Amino acid sequence: MIHIYYFSGTGNSLFIARKLNESLANSKLIPILNILKNPQNKVDVEKVIFVFPVYALTIPLPVRDFLASSDFSSVQYFAAVATRLGLYFNDFKRIDKLLKTNKLNSYFLLNMGSNDVKIKNYSCPSEEKIQALEILNLSEISRIIKIIINSENSREIDSTYLEPEC
Ligand SMILES: Cc1cc2nc3c(=O)[nH]c(=O)nc-3n(C[C@H](O)[C@H](O)[C@H](O)COP(=O)(O)O)c2cc1C
Repeated sequence: MIHIYYFSGTGNSLFIARKLNESLANSKLIPILNILKNPQNKVDVEKVIFVFPVYALTIPLPVRDFLASSDFSSVQYFAAVATRLGLYFNDFKRIDKLLKTNKLNSYFLLNMGSNDVKIKNYSCPSEEKIQALEILNLSEISRIIKIIINSENSREIDSTYLEPEC
């Protein structure tokens, strides 16, 4: 059994989580915000995938709270998929720390449409831009799915960022 835990502000991460759910047999999609109402959650499945957006170069607070308050000690394989607008990211290690007894086996970054409206001169991504990103991301999701099915380790440094480290 695979649990896919997701947090999504505007739907990008939910889109990815749904695609993973459609392609991974015996998987279940679970909103992290629902689990937050049930702290001290014991996760008793073979594999777990976390899907969330990057916020302020790190992991969103509800995701951190969920990780800190859950018991993953019997899980054998962990993967994380972070969606973002494209700023350099180097904080999957925060998840390693919060898992306490384990480490992420694999992690992945997907560049998607930006919802960060506080950025100067923000404009909503065009339909064409979203479609182009979707083609790239669907191909990357196929690669991610194979890695997860085969329980492979894939901890690559960020090489797909659009903006370097600030
Ligand atoms: C408050 C906030 C902070 C963000 N910070 C970052 C960031 O540090 N790096 C980045 O690449 N994208 C950042 N983004 C963009 C989102 O991560 C990106 O658009 C993501 O795909 C949104 O996913 P969602 O629709 O599942 O919420 C930020 C967005 C918001 C709203």
